[in-house]
Amino acid sequence: MGTGYSIRRVERQDYEGVLQALSALTTVGSVSRTQFEETVDHWNHVKVSSEPEILQYHPYVVLHGEEVAATGMLFIERKLIHGCGLVGHIEDIAVSLHHQGKQLGRALIDHLTNLGLRHCYKVILDCDERNVRFYEKCGYSRAGVEMQRR
Ligand code: ACO
Repeated sequence: MGTGYSIRRVERQDYEGVLQALSALTTVGSVSRTQFEETVDHWNHVKVSSEPEILQYHPYVVLHGEEVAATGMLFIERKLIHGCGLVGHIEDIAVSLHHQGKQLGRALIDHLTNLGLRHCYKVILDCDERNVRFYEKCGYSRAGVEMQRR
């Protein structure tokens, strides 16, 4: 990452910054400060396993000084298959508009992927066709077809 940038877990104080960054991804809707803080508290205590202790949610921000420039989540799913294996899911990646194109997205994906592969047998994600090239540059390859029902 370039000079002046750093990466850390999301904290309660990141309310405005995280919501602002997420608006580059989609409509965030109405989220109060209290709801945000309760969600961060939830992320900070839910564990996918106790021995070794592994948290289920790994929400991160890339900071430029004090400003949130990007955000993203690694979520860890506990399965029965693969000997009670763990699968990492990369979710809600968003780089603020004026920080896009500075390799922050790649740095964030590298960080979340390395974190996931410490514990999980694979890390997966869903994305739009227009972002396939970005994820290929981050080392991901096409696998399967996403389907949905709303
Ligand atoms: N198509 C093709 N190449 C791309 C794209 C794209 N859409 N986006 C980035 N790249 C390339 C860059 O040119 C760069 O290539 P280079 O290293 O050869 O120069 C490389 O990928 C790394 O790019 P970054 O600078 O790290 O990309 P950025 O910081 O802008 O982040 C991202 C990319 C996350 C897609 C950002 O533009 C963004 O937040 N977009 C809006 C929200 C979004 O679509 N998020 C992803 C949702 S999918 C999910 O959450 C799992």
